[in-house]
Amino acid sequence: MDFSKPSHFLHPSYNSPVTRSWFSKKPAASSLIYPIFVSEFPEEETSFEKMPGIFRFGYKNIVSYLKPLVAKGLTSILIFGIITDESKKDPSGTLAGGLKKDGPVHLALKEIKAALPELYLICDVCLCEYTSHGHCGVFDEEGRLNNAGSVQRLVEAGMSYIDAGADMLAPSDMMDGRIGALKAALLKRGLEIPVMAYSAKFCSGFYGPFRDICNSAPQKGDRRGYQLPCDSKELALRAVARDLEEGADFIMVKPISAYLDIVSEIKRKFDCIVSCYQVSGEYSMIYFAAKAGAIDKKRVVLEYVTSFRRAGVDAIITYFVPELLEWLQEK
Ligand code: PBG
Repeated sequence: MDFSKPSHFLHPSYNSPVTRSWFSKKPAASSLIYPIFVSEFPEEETSFEKMPGIFRFGYKNIVSYLKPLVAKGLTSILIFGIITDESKKDPSGTLAGGLKKDGPVHLALKEIKAALPELYLICDVCLCEYTSHGHCGVFDEEGRLNNAGSVQRLVEAGMSYIDAGADMLAPSDMMDGRIGALKAALLKRGLEIPVMAYSAKFCSGFYGPFRDICNSAPQKGDRRGYQLPCDSKELALRAVARDLEEGADFIMVKPISAYLDIVSEIKRKFDCIVSCYQVSGEYSMIYFAAKAGAIDKKRVVLEYVTSFRRAGVDAIITYFVPELLEWLQEK
């Protein structure tokens, strides 16, 4: 320690609550997005062993669950539709939407829009919750993933969510070219609807609990052919560049805890707003570690949120939103 050098002393910079607040990365309540799961049944409330605190609701009783959260400051949700009856699934994921406009998402959108018009409604766009094979796209006759056919189905589904009242589309399928196709379809109809691209979505072990909730695990094979390999920063950056070029309004990184470097790199290279998705496995790990008394949940969740912001994240999708809305108001 060189006592003659004032620049070697850091404590003076943060030894008061006032100066500590100047470093704050506290997010605004309006930058928190809450994922919700709705099923094809009107009334349902199912809990999940692997994700305590998270429920699947019927498309009608979701409204009474959301109302108190909106009163607490909730401004936006990310909606996932779930088909619990396997016999209603088919190879092209018909109930995702398109010709059919009475899937769980359409039904829920109408209920929520009518009861909570100020809530901002983001729709996940994917086929895996609706396809009999559990993949995010459709296959050709030889059993190969049909990228063009998949994009067409995703556009049909996305447009049907807009008709039902969605404010933003968030395609999580990872097919090539879906951002451009969605944007073109929206512009053709003169709609200034934003698209949030799951650009840097990695093939991850953190999605386990979600696939249980959605019954959406692939029947055969895995998603390595379309989700990004977790060791590749290069592909993530190429995907972001491409999606911005295709007209993405927002870029997402998912999962987040093990991918903070990807956010920093995106922020360094591109002028764009980045959201992150703290996914189901990340939620469960924190939940169960806290339950076992190993960590303090509130402290650790706030520390994670701070790290997302420090890395450059602008908006945060997390299952901890109801708790965060309370914690962020505390002094
Ligand atoms: C795909 C999708 C997944 C998640 C969101 N959209 C799962 C997957 O790719 O298998 C995961 C979200 C989470 O784990 O919380 N439709």
